[in-house]
Amino acid sequence: MRFAPILTSAILFGSIFATNVIALESGEALYNDACATCHGAAGMGEGPLAEYMTVDVPNLTQLSVRNDGVFPMLAVIQTIDGRTGIRGHGSEMPVWGRQFKAETLAGSGIYGSEVYARGKVLSLAYYLESIQEE
Ligand code: HEC
Repeated sequence: MRFAPILTSAILFGSIFATNVIALESGEALYNDACATCHGAAGMGEGPLAEYMTVDVPNLTQLSVRNDGVFPMLAVIQTIDGRTGIRGHGSEMPVWGRQFKAETLAGSGIYGSEVYARGKVLSLAYYLESIQEE
């Protein structure tokens, strides 16, 4: 089986690549559903609900620029999840981790719903990473 390693790497690479593409696509769809009302379709804080907020809705395309050019992945994940107590500031931003977990189909059990919620938060974080401006 001389080709086995090549085949294995091709399959591995293919599935890692496919996972990223799926994460980005589902992240974008989730963003449009759950986040664009406040943060805006383009992520610049221009959503229709923004004017009703008591605090400014942040521009999510500037997260890297504001962090010395590095996307703050962990902070973004924790901010979106909201259950770790780490918030942007104030408490206007919904706690998505709890909400995504509650949405899980009955029967998937406590671990299933946790994995599901984290998957959604991660997909959103990947999507936000993809819309950063230089
Ligand atoms: C009800 C309006 C609203 C919705 C909906 C909303 N956000 Fe927010 N978001 C805010 C506000 C306001 C802030 C500023 C921090 C605060 O007050 O909690 C914020 C902060 C953030 C931050 C931190 C930004 C920074 O400058 O550090 C991220 C990341 C973020 N939101 C992502 C999301 C994602 C992803 C979604 C969808 C799952 C979402 N938000 C949905 C209002 C909203």
